[in-house]
Amino acid sequence: MNSVHVAAGKPYEVLIERGLIARSGETLKAALGNRTCAAAILTDDTVDALYGEAVEASFARSGFRVCRFAIPHGETHKNIATWAQMLDFLADGHITRTDAVVALGGGVVGDMAGFAAASYLRGVGFMQIPTTLLAMVDSSVGGKTGVNLSAGKNQVGAFYQPVVVLCDPDTLQTLPPDTLADGVAESIKYGVLGDAALFELLCGAKWQGEMERVIATCVAAKAKLVAEDERDTGSRQLLNLGHTLGHGIEKCSHFSISHGHAVAVGMVYAARLAQRLGLCGADVRERIEEALKANNLPVSAPYDAEALCSAALSDKKRAGGQIVFVLPHAIGACELHRMDVADLPRLVRLAVEE
Ligand code: NAD
Ligand code: GLY
Repeated sequence: MNSVHVAAGKPYEVLIERGLIARSGETLKAALGNRTCAAAILTDDTVDALYGEAVEASFARSGFRVCRFAIPHGETHKNIATWAQMLDFLADGHITRTDAVVALGGGVVGDMAGFAAASYLRGVGFMQIPTTLLAMVDSSVGGKTGVNLSAGKNQVGAFYQPVVVLCDPDTLQTLPPDTLADGVAESIKYGVLGDAALFELLCGAKWQGEMERVIATCVAAKAKLVAEDERDTGSRQLLNLGHTLGHGIEKCSHFSISHGHAVAVGMVYAARLAQRLGLCGADVRERIEEALKANNLPVSAPYDAEALCSAALSDKKRAGGQIVFVLPHAIGACELHRMDVADLPRLVRLAVEE
């Protein structure tokens, strides 16, 4: 088994092993110090149909009292109304402060269930069982939880770390190819940020045979930044490579373009901006485009600079009169660049226009 330690204020392990989902109950019991309690499994309808019963059975076998609630799948349900339904479910199920919420699903479920765990009774135990590649390599690790507002992505939430994260790569076998590709986009992001060897691996055809290694490598990269900067005031912001304009693309598409696909295009735009600001050559953008295309990911989106600029203005990465762009200087080396919001229209045009 691969195990990555996350040295957050409240430290925990990310466990990665094929078939591990069948041992989810005993995994939480061990993480709680050989204690059982009530476990409220929060999932979505698609994941519930595939894995809900098996996970519930595992918790019951390990001695937990279990209840399970499925929300409709999809980013459009990542909102206050669905989060409130989760809270009502926890209250109706008599979940108390010594009990636990189990997030079973992709990043949408993980972010919302995490926020429910953070806010219900001012905080109950929380386990992540990510079932998409994106959730395994990114969203289940680091404790960012939340929901969207109509004004923008993840605008309400909390930092709330899980007690343990369980990744079973076998669950990725049921993912639609486009959803798997979302996770590849985030994995390529780690390559561009600081791991040229990972980037090269993901450009080739053989990486799917090394899924556990890819997940562990990405999680270790994220764990390092989370340990350095848990509250996201400094180096953790590097993880936002491709996100400033990526979130704008998601918003402009009314979420018909998924997070991972939007981040893919956002990385191309970041590389074009870096090139035009003289921080790197055209080869960086070209190599990112090649890696994305090799994994059936997009390299452009049908929104003009004006639309993306106004979406970026409501992004929460804006702080006062400044907005942070993560820009590549090379494959494997990126830096934070704080830009004046007043300069945003010019910068977005440089990023987007070919
Ligand atoms: P998602 O949760 O919507 O899952 C994508 C789709 O795959 C859903 O329809 C889901 O039902 C389905 N699915 C999930 N697991 C499956 C499986 N094993 N087999 C078949 N179908 C399955 O999307 P996502 O890409 O996992 O996550 C995107 C979300 O994560 C966004 O809301 C984004 O903002 C958030 N995010 C959060 C962080 C963070 O640090 N908290 C980081 C990155 C992204
Ligand atoms: N996904 C960005 C972060 O966790 O900081």
